[in-house]
Amino acid sequence: MTVPAPAPRPVILDGDPGHDDAISFLLALASPEFRVLGLTTVFGNVGLERTTRNALIVRELSGVDVPLYAGADCPLVARRISAEAVHGKSGMDGPELPTPTRGAEAGHAARFITQQVRARPGEVTLVATGPLTNLALAFRFAPDIVPLVRAVVWMGGSTDTGNWTPAAEFNALADPHAAHIVFTSGVPLTMFGLNVTHQAIAHPARVQAFRDLGTRVGEFAAVLLEFFAEHHRERYGWDGGALHDPVTVAWLLRPELFVSRPMHVILDLTNGPCAGRTVADVWNVTGQPKNVEVVTGVDADGFFALLVERLGRYS
Ligand code: RIB
Ligand code: CA
Repeated sequence: MTVPAPAPRPVILDGDPGHDDAISFLLALASPEFRVLGLTTVFGNVGLERTTRNALIVRELSGVDVPLYAGADCPLVARRISAEAVHGKSGMDGPELPTPTRGAEAGHAARFITQQVRARPGEVTLVATGPLTNLALAFRFAPDIVPLVRAVVWMGGSTDTGNWTPAAEFNALADPHAAHIVFTSGVPLTMFGLNVTHQAIAHPARVQAFRDLGTRVGEFAAVLLEFFAEHHRERYGWDGGALHDPVTVAWLLRPELFVSRPMHVILDLTNGPCAGRTVADVWNVTGQPKNVEVVTGVDADGFFALLVERLGRYS
């Protein structure tokens, strides 16, 4: 007797493309295990107009027809920061970027998230790879949806050092108040911090594997990663970029490639040197409720093999 395949998991991909967001979107859109309900964009690596334009470009490159909604263009409280130094002025410097032929749908991302979660109670997974502003707005705008969200999976934070300040990772620092709202909401939350994403380095041999696909998507990913590597080479001395965002989607596809455990995690909302830090109680010294599943390890070879296999499905 053949066991029927599980029904595709409904997901919404919220991000700030961004080199690594773009690859995360392409991974999800190539994977039949997901029903991608839509893409939503947020300010972050660059301003909202450019993250949205980049998401439109990625949607067209994928050839998959999903709705796309723009969201927040600034944080809830903090001053807006951006990462042109890492991603370039466009937010996706490196490859030739075509002008999108189709724009975003009318309406705010937070409203779209709210509508979709209400329509599918208990089913929708929110995969966030930028500042958590859209999710926080939805949770504040419609508190009724919080218990209806199946899960939030977020690339952000760190259990140790930061990458934008010595203490804070970019997505957390870009909107720490939004992260605080999500972290204290009670929603099932899995966090991929720098402590794990810095284990997933796209070194030249891994970049070549994308190029060896011999496809538009393979070449696009390879050129993205070659540009992305430049910042990491200068800053960390690594021979490739840390491929942060796609680990979220990869975990949903192949959780066995990852190691995680529950921890108590809070956001530092002060304006001091640790502003925006995700303070993870790694050794449970507080005995506080463990509100976050914190990912601590990844089989990097398995992760990149999955990425190449799935991106290889684009013609
Ligand atoms: O700190 C890395 C994160 O910040 C990634 O999501 C990257 O795209 C940027 O948004
Ligand atoms: Ca991102």
